[in-house]
Amino acid sequence: MAQDDHSGAELAAADSSHAAPEFAGSTGTAVVPYDAFENPGFEPHRPRVTDQDPRREKRAQRTVYTLFYLSVLGSVWAVAAYMLFPMESNNVDAVRLNNMFIGFGATLALLGIGFGAVHWGKSLMTSAESIDTRHPISTSEATQRGAVEVFRQADEESGFSRRTVIRNSLIGALLAFPLPAVVLFRGFAPQDELPVELLSHTMWKKGTRLALDPSGVAIKASDVTIGSAFHVIPEGLTDLEHGKLEEKAKAAVLLMRLEPDELNQTPERESWSYEGIVAYSKICTHVGCPVALYEQHTHHLLCPCHQSQFDVANHCKVIFGPAKRPLPQLPIAVDDEGYLIAQSDFTEPVGPSFWERN
Ligand code: FES
Repeated sequence: MAQDDHSGAELAAADSSHAAPEFAGSTGTAVVPYDAFENPGFEPHRPRVTDQDPRREKRAQRTVYTLFYLSVLGSVWAVAAYMLFPMESNNVDAVRLNNMFIGFGATLALLGIGFGAVHWGKSLMTSAESIDTRHPISTSEATQRGAVEVFRQADEESGFSRRTVIRNSLIGALLAFPLPAVVLFRGFAPQDELPVELLSHTMWKKGTRLALDPSGVAIKASDVTIGSAFHVIPEGLTDLEHGKLEEKAKAAVLLMRLEPDELNQTPERESWSYEGIVAYSKICTHVGCPVALYEQHTHHLLCPCHQSQFDVANHCKVIFGPAKRPLPQLPIAVDDEGYLIAQSDFTEPVGPSFWERN
Protein backbone atom coordinates (compact mmCIF):
# COMPACT_ATOMS: atom_id res chain seq x y z
CA MET A 1 0.00 0.00 0.00
CA ALA A 2 2.86 2.25 0.92
CA GLN A 3 4.42 1.37 -2.38
CA ASP A 4 1.16 2.31 -4.20
CA ASP A 5 1.09 5.70 -2.52
CA HIS A 6 4.63 6.28 -3.55
CA SER A 7 3.86 5.45 -7.20
CA GLY A 8 0.86 7.78 -7.13
CA ALA A 9 2.99 10.63 -5.91
CA GLU A 10 5.53 10.03 -8.68
CA LEU A 11 2.74 10.00 -11.29
CA ALA A 12 1.34 13.27 -9.96
CA ALA A 13 4.79 14.81 -10.08
CA ALA A 14 5.32 13.61 -13.67
CA ASP A 15 1.88 14.91 -14.77
CA SER A 16 2.41 18.30 -13.21
CA SER A 17 5.59 18.78 -15.21
CA HIS A 18 3.45 19.26 -18.43
CA ALA A 19 0.94 21.63 -16.93
CA ALA A 20 0.97 25.39 -17.17
CA PRO A 21 3.28 27.04 -14.67
CA GLU A 22 0.46 28.39 -12.48
CA PHE A 23 -1.04 24.89 -12.22
CA ALA A 24 2.22 23.06 -11.62
CA GLY A 25 1.75 20.55 -8.81
CA SER A 26 -2.05 20.16 -9.27
CA THR A 27 -3.28 16.67 -10.18
CA GLY A 28 -6.52 14.84 -10.88
CA THR A 29 -9.24 16.22 -13.14
CA ALA A 30 -8.40 19.92 -13.05
CA VAL A 31 -8.97 21.65 -16.44
CA VAL A 32 -5.99 23.66 -17.45
CA PRO A 33 -6.99 26.81 -19.35
CA TYR A 34 -3.67 27.16 -20.99
CA ASP A 35 -3.07 28.54 -24.49
CA ALA A 36 0.37 27.86 -25.88
CA PHE A 37 0.03 30.67 -28.45
CA GLU A 38 -0.12 34.27 -27.56
CA ASN A 39 -2.34 36.55 -29.61
CA PRO A 40 0.20 38.52 -31.63
CA GLY A 41 -2.26 41.38 -32.17
CA PHE A 42 -2.15 43.67 -35.19
CA GLU A 43 1.02 44.75 -36.85
CA PRO A 44 1.47 48.49 -36.72
CA HIS A 45 -0.44 50.15 -39.55
CA ARG A 46 1.76 51.05 -42.51
CA PRO A 47 0.34 53.84 -44.63
CA ARG A 48 0.51 53.35 -48.42
CA VAL A 49 2.03 55.82 -50.83
CA THR A 50 -1.46 56.85 -51.88
CA ASP A 51 -2.24 57.68 -48.24
CA GLN A 52 0.75 59.99 -48.02
CA ASP A 53 1.20 61.51 -51.44
CA PRO A 54 -1.84 63.32 -52.94
CA ARG A 55 -0.27 63.11 -56.43
CA ARG A 56 -0.03 59.30 -56.19
CA GLU A 57 -3.58 59.20 -54.94
CA LYS A 58 -4.74 61.19 -57.96
CA ARG A 59 -2.81 58.90 -60.25
CA ALA A 60 -4.39 55.81 -58.69
CA GLN A 61 -7.78 57.41 -59.08
CA ARG A 62 -7.08 58.06 -62.78
CA THR A 63 -5.97 54.46 -63.25
CA VAL A 64 -9.13 53.12 -61.67
CA TYR A 65 -11.57 55.11 -63.76
CA THR A 66 -9.51 54.51 -66.89
CA LEU A 67 -9.86 50.77 -66.30
CA PHE A 68 -13.61 51.08 -65.86
CA TYR A 69 -13.92 53.14 -69.03
CA LEU A 70 -11.77 50.57 -70.85
CA SER A 71 -14.35 48.02 -69.76
CA VAL A 72 -17.08 50.17 -71.33
CA LEU A 73 -15.02 50.31 -74.53
CA GLY A 74 -14.66 46.54 -74.48
CA SER A 75 -18.42 46.05 -74.19
CA VAL A 76 -19.14 48.52 -76.97
CA TRP A 77 -16.49 46.87 -79.14
CA ALA A 78 -18.05 43.44 -78.57
CA VAL A 79 -21.40 44.79 -79.79
CA ALA A 80 -19.76 46.47 -82.78
CA ALA A 81 -17.80 43.30 -83.62
CA TYR A 82 -21.04 41.34 -83.73
CA MET A 83 -22.21 43.59 -86.54
CA LEU A 84 -18.89 44.27 -88.26
CA PHE A 85 -17.84 40.63 -88.44
CA PRO A 86 -21.05 38.66 -88.99
CA MET A 87 -20.98 34.88 -89.00
CA GLU A 88 -21.57 33.36 -92.41
CA SER A 89 -22.57 29.77 -92.86
CA ASN A 90 -19.89 27.63 -94.48
CA ASN A 91 -17.30 30.35 -93.92
CA VAL A 92 -15.04 29.24 -91.13
CA ASP A 93 -12.85 32.36 -91.40
CA ALA A 94 -15.86 34.61 -90.81
CA VAL A 95 -16.87 32.57 -87.76
CA ARG A 96 -13.32 32.77 -86.43
CA LEU A 97 -13.13 36.55 -86.85
CA ASN A 98 -16.54 36.97 -85.24
CA ASN A 99 -15.60 34.86 -82.21
CA MET A 100 -12.18 36.43 -81.88
CA PHE A 101 -13.32 40.06 -81.88
CA ILE A 102 -16.38 39.49 -79.70
CA GLY A 103 -14.18 37.54 -77.31
CA PHE A 104 -11.62 40.32 -77.28
CA GLY A 105 -14.30 42.88 -76.38
CA ALA A 106 -15.84 40.71 -73.66
CA THR A 107 -12.39 40.00 -72.20
CA LEU A 108 -11.52 43.67 -72.09
CA ALA A 109 -14.87 44.44 -70.47
CA LEU A 110 -14.41 41.84 -67.75
CA LEU A 111 -10.76 42.58 -67.08
CA GLY A 112 -11.43 46.33 -66.93
CA ILE A 113 -14.04 45.87 -64.22
CA GLY A 114 -11.94 43.31 -62.34
CA PHE A 115 -8.64 45.16 -62.37
CA GLY A 116 -10.35 48.49 -61.68
CA ALA A 117 -12.16 47.12 -58.64
CA VAL A 118 -9.00 45.49 -57.24
CA HIS A 119 -6.90 48.58 -57.80
CA TRP A 120 -9.53 50.77 -56.17
CA GLY A 121 -9.62 48.51 -53.13
CA LYS A 122 -5.86 48.20 -52.83
CA SER A 123 -4.80 51.76 -53.41
CA LEU A 124 -7.65 54.06 -52.43
CA MET A 125 -10.03 52.40 -50.01
CA THR A 126 -8.95 52.55 -46.40
CA SER A 127 -6.39 49.93 -45.37
CA ALA A 128 -6.68 50.28 -41.60
CA GLU A 129 -7.38 47.02 -39.79
CA SER A 130 -10.03 46.82 -37.15
CA ILE A 131 -11.55 44.26 -34.82
CA ASP A 132 -15.13 43.23 -35.30
CA THR A 133 -16.03 41.55 -32.02
CA ARG A 134 -18.58 38.77 -32.11
CA HIS A 135 -21.95 39.35 -30.64
CA PRO A 136 -25.26 37.49 -30.64
CA ILE A 137 -27.17 37.68 -33.91
CA SER A 138 -30.40 39.52 -33.47
CA THR A 139 -32.68 41.80 -35.36
CA SER A 140 -33.04 44.38 -32.68
CA GLU A 141 -33.17 48.00 -33.60
CA ALA A 142 -29.72 48.55 -32.22
CA THR A 143 -28.37 45.89 -34.62
CA GLN A 144 -30.12 47.43 -37.55
CA ARG A 145 -28.78 50.83 -36.65
CA GLY A 146 -25.35 49.26 -36.39
CA ALA A 147 -25.67 47.74 -39.87
CA VAL A 148 -26.68 51.06 -41.31
CA GLU A 149 -23.70 52.62 -39.60
CA VAL A 150 -21.39 49.99 -41.11
CA PHE A 151 -22.70 50.78 -44.56
CA ARG A 152 -22.34 54.46 -43.95
CA GLN A 153 -18.80 53.98 -42.73
CA ALA A 154 -17.94 51.67 -45.64
CA ASP A 155 -19.30 54.27 -48.02
CA GLU A 156 -17.26 56.95 -46.37
CA GLU A 157 -14.07 54.90 -46.29
CA SER A 158 -14.38 53.54 -49.82
CA GLY A 159 -15.31 56.94 -51.14
CA PHE A 160 -18.13 55.43 -53.18
CA SER A 161 -20.33 58.48 -52.83
CA ARG A 162 -17.48 60.97 -52.64
CA ARG A 163 -15.49 59.79 -55.67
CA THR A 164 -18.28 60.32 -58.15
CA VAL A 165 -16.12 59.93 -61.26
CA ILE A 166 -15.03 56.45 -60.25
CA ARG A 167 -18.49 55.46 -59.06
CA ASN A 168 -20.14 56.60 -62.27
CA SER A 169 -17.55 54.90 -64.43
CA LEU A 170 -18.10 51.63 -62.54
CA ILE A 171 -21.86 51.92 -62.89
CA GLY A 172 -21.38 52.61 -66.60
CA ALA A 173 -19.13 49.58 -66.97
CA LEU A 174 -21.56 47.29 -65.15
CA LEU A 175 -24.51 48.55 -67.19
CA ALA A 176 -22.66 48.16 -70.49
CA PHE A 177 -21.27 44.72 -69.77
CA PRO A 178 -24.52 42.70 -70.33
CA LEU A 179 -25.12 44.38 -73.71
CA PRO A 180 -23.03 41.91 -75.76
CA ALA A 181 -25.02 39.02 -74.27
CA VAL A 182 -28.32 40.67 -75.24
CA VAL A 183 -27.07 41.24 -78.79
CA LEU A 184 -25.68 37.71 -79.08
CA PHE A 185 -29.04 36.18 -78.10
CA ARG A 186 -30.56 37.87 -81.14
CA GLY A 187 -28.47 35.53 -83.28
CA PHE A 188 -30.53 32.53 -82.13
CA ALA A 189 -33.61 33.72 -83.99
CA PRO A 190 -33.88 33.69 -87.79
CA GLN A 191 -33.35 37.06 -89.42
CA ASP A 192 -36.38 37.43 -91.64
CA GLU A 193 -38.59 34.34 -91.27
CA LEU A 194 -40.85 33.01 -88.57
CA PRO A 195 -39.13 30.10 -86.84
CA VAL A 196 -42.18 27.83 -87.07
CA GLU A 197 -42.57 28.50 -90.79
CA LEU A 198 -38.91 27.93 -91.33
CA LEU A 199 -38.88 24.62 -89.52
CA SER A 200 -42.10 23.37 -91.06
CA HIS A 201 -40.58 23.00 -94.51
CA THR A 202 -37.51 21.21 -95.82
CA MET A 203 -35.78 20.94 -99.18
CA TRP A 204 -37.83 17.92 -100.13
CA LYS A 205 -40.45 18.48 -102.77
CA LYS A 206 -42.25 16.40 -105.35
CA GLY A 207 -39.75 14.70 -107.65
CA THR A 208 -36.57 15.43 -105.62
CA ARG A 209 -34.30 12.41 -105.90
CA LEU A 210 -32.96 10.73 -102.79
CA ALA A 211 -29.16 10.96 -102.75
CA LEU A 212 -26.40 9.44 -100.67
CA ASP A 213 -24.99 11.48 -97.80
CA PRO A 214 -22.39 12.98 -98.21
CA SER A 215 -21.59 12.27 -101.89
CA GLY A 216 -24.95 13.49 -103.23
CA VAL A 217 -25.18 10.58 -105.72
CA ALA A 218 -28.79 9.70 -106.50
CA ILE A 219 -30.00 6.30 -105.30
CA LYS A 220 -31.77 3.73 -107.47
CA ALA A 221 -34.36 1.50 -105.84
CA SER A 222 -32.44 -1.50 -107.14
CA ASP A 223 -29.38 -0.41 -105.09
CA VAL A 224 -31.28 -0.80 -101.83
CA THR A 225 -31.08 -4.43 -100.77
CA ILE A 226 -33.26 -5.94 -98.07
CA GLY A 227 -31.85 -5.20 -94.60
CA SER A 228 -29.75 -2.24 -95.75
CA ALA A 229 -29.93 1.32 -94.44
CA PHE A 230 -28.74 4.52 -96.11
CA HIS A 231 -28.08 8.02 -94.86
CA VAL A 232 -29.82 10.25 -97.35
CA ILE A 233 -29.98 13.91 -98.39
CA PRO A 234 -32.00 15.61 -101.15
CA GLU A 235 -30.23 15.65 -104.52
CA GLY A 236 -28.84 19.12 -105.14
CA LEU A 237 -28.14 19.88 -101.50
CA THR A 238 -24.39 19.56 -102.00
CA ASP A 239 -24.55 22.24 -104.73
CA LEU A 240 -26.14 24.87 -102.49
CA GLU A 241 -23.93 27.88 -101.98
CA HIS A 242 -25.60 29.13 -98.82
CA GLY A 243 -27.42 27.44 -95.97
CA LYS A 244 -26.21 23.96 -96.83
CA LEU A 245 -25.85 22.88 -93.22
CA GLU A 246 -29.18 24.39 -92.18
CA GLU A 247 -31.00 22.58 -94.97
CA LYS A 248 -29.23 19.33 -94.23
CA ALA A 249 -30.11 19.63 -90.54
CA LYS A 250 -33.80 19.56 -91.49
CA ALA A 251 -33.86 17.30 -94.54
CA ALA A 252 -31.60 14.41 -93.45
CA VAL A 253 -33.34 11.09 -93.94
CA LEU A 254 -32.77 7.41 -93.17
CA LEU A 255 -33.69 4.96 -95.89
CA MET A 256 -34.26 1.30 -95.05
CA ARG A 257 -35.56 -1.73 -96.88
CA LEU A 258 -37.58 -4.42 -95.12
CA GLU A 259 -39.48 -7.38 -96.45
CA PRO A 260 -42.73 -5.78 -97.64
CA ASP A 261 -44.81 -8.08 -95.43
CA GLU A 262 -42.84 -6.95 -92.35
CA LEU A 263 -44.21 -3.44 -92.72
CA ASN A 264 -47.42 -2.71 -90.84
CA GLN A 265 -48.77 0.04 -93.01
CA THR A 266 -51.96 1.99 -92.53
CA PRO A 267 -54.11 2.30 -95.66
CA GLU A 268 -53.34 6.01 -96.06
CA ARG A 269 -49.59 5.36 -96.02
CA GLU A 270 -49.50 2.30 -98.23
CA SER A 271 -48.38 4.38 -101.18
CA TRP A 272 -45.63 6.15 -99.20
CA SER A 273 -43.15 3.26 -99.53
CA TYR A 274 -41.77 1.31 -102.47
CA GLU A 275 -41.45 -2.48 -102.30
CA GLY A 276 -40.48 -2.39 -98.61
CA ILE A 277 -38.28 0.71 -98.95
CA VAL A 278 -39.22 3.39 -96.42
CA ALA A 279 -37.74 6.79 -95.63
CA TYR A 280 -37.95 8.53 -92.25
CA SER A 281 -36.59 11.78 -90.91
CA LYS A 282 -33.23 11.31 -89.22
CA ILE A 283 -33.89 14.13 -86.75
CA CYS A 284 -34.98 12.80 -83.37
CA THR A 285 -38.34 14.10 -82.19
CA HIS A 286 -36.99 14.44 -78.68
CA VAL A 287 -34.43 17.24 -78.92
CA GLY A 288 -33.16 16.82 -82.46
CA CYS A 289 -30.10 14.54 -82.39
CA PRO A 290 -29.45 12.46 -85.51
CA VAL A 291 -31.03 9.03 -85.13
CA ALA A 292 -28.25 7.08 -86.75
CA LEU A 293 -28.24 3.56 -85.32
CA TYR A 294 -30.28 0.91 -87.11
CA GLU A 295 -30.72 -2.60 -85.82
CA GLN A 296 -31.44 -4.74 -88.83
CA HIS A 297 -33.02 -7.76 -87.09
CA THR A 298 -35.49 -5.89 -84.90
CA HIS A 299 -35.99 -2.98 -87.37
CA HIS A 300 -35.41 -0.56 -84.52
CA LEU A 301 -33.77 2.83 -84.81
CA LEU A 302 -31.87 4.12 -81.78
CA CYS A 303 -31.09 7.71 -80.96
CA PRO A 304 -27.75 7.73 -79.15
CA CYS A 305 -28.44 10.95 -77.24
CA HIS A 306 -31.11 9.75 -74.79
CA GLN A 307 -31.81 6.26 -76.09
CA SER A 308 -35.18 6.83 -77.72
CA GLN A 309 -36.08 3.86 -79.92
CA PHE A 310 -38.35 3.87 -82.93
CA ASP A 311 -39.95 0.87 -84.62
CA VAL A 312 -39.49 1.15 -88.38
CA ALA A 313 -41.97 -1.65 -89.07
CA ASN A 314 -44.68 0.35 -87.29
CA HIS A 315 -44.34 3.85 -88.71
CA CYS A 316 -41.37 4.59 -86.48
CA LYS A 317 -43.55 4.84 -83.40
CA VAL A 318 -41.67 5.41 -80.15
CA ILE A 319 -41.11 2.16 -78.24
CA PHE A 320 -38.67 3.46 -75.64
CA GLY A 321 -37.16 6.70 -74.37
CA PRO A 322 -38.16 10.31 -73.94
CA ALA A 323 -39.25 11.07 -77.55
CA LYS A 324 -42.96 11.81 -77.70
CA ARG A 325 -43.91 11.21 -81.31
CA PRO A 326 -42.86 8.98 -84.23
CA LEU A 327 -40.21 10.06 -86.71
CA PRO A 328 -41.96 11.83 -89.63
CA GLN A 329 -42.13 9.68 -92.77
CA LEU A 330 -41.08 10.98 -96.18
CA PRO A 331 -43.44 9.68 -98.88
CA ILE A 332 -41.33 8.15 -101.66
CA ALA A 333 -41.79 6.64 -105.10
CA VAL A 334 -39.63 5.69 -108.11
CA ASP A 335 -39.20 7.75 -111.28
CA ASP A 336 -39.00 6.51 -114.87
CA GLU A 337 -35.27 5.85 -114.58
CA GLY A 338 -35.62 3.78 -111.43
CA TYR A 339 -34.36 6.47 -109.03
CA LEU A 340 -36.02 6.94 -105.68
CA ILE A 341 -37.84 10.29 -105.47
CA ALA A 342 -39.88 12.16 -102.86
CA GLN A 343 -43.60 12.44 -103.45
CA SER A 344 -43.69 15.69 -101.46
CA ASP A 345 -42.13 17.39 -98.45
CA PHE A 346 -42.70 15.86 -95.01
CA THR A 347 -46.33 16.22 -94.05
CA GLU A 348 -45.43 17.37 -90.52
CA PRO A 349 -42.55 19.36 -89.00
CA VAL A 350 -39.40 17.37 -88.38
CA GLY A 351 -37.43 17.48 -85.16
CA PRO A 352 -38.44 18.28 -81.60
CA SER A 353 -42.17 18.25 -80.97
CA PHE A 354 -42.51 21.65 -79.35
CA TRP A 355 -42.71 23.46 -82.68
CA GLU A 356 -46.14 22.02 -83.25
CA ARG A 357 -47.48 23.67 -80.15
CA ASN A 358 -47.46 27.05 -81.78
S1 FES B 1 -32.50 13.54 -78.88
FE1 FES B 1 -33.03 11.55 -79.35
S2 FES B 1 -33.56 10.69 -77.52
FE2 FES B 1 -33.06 12.71 -76.98
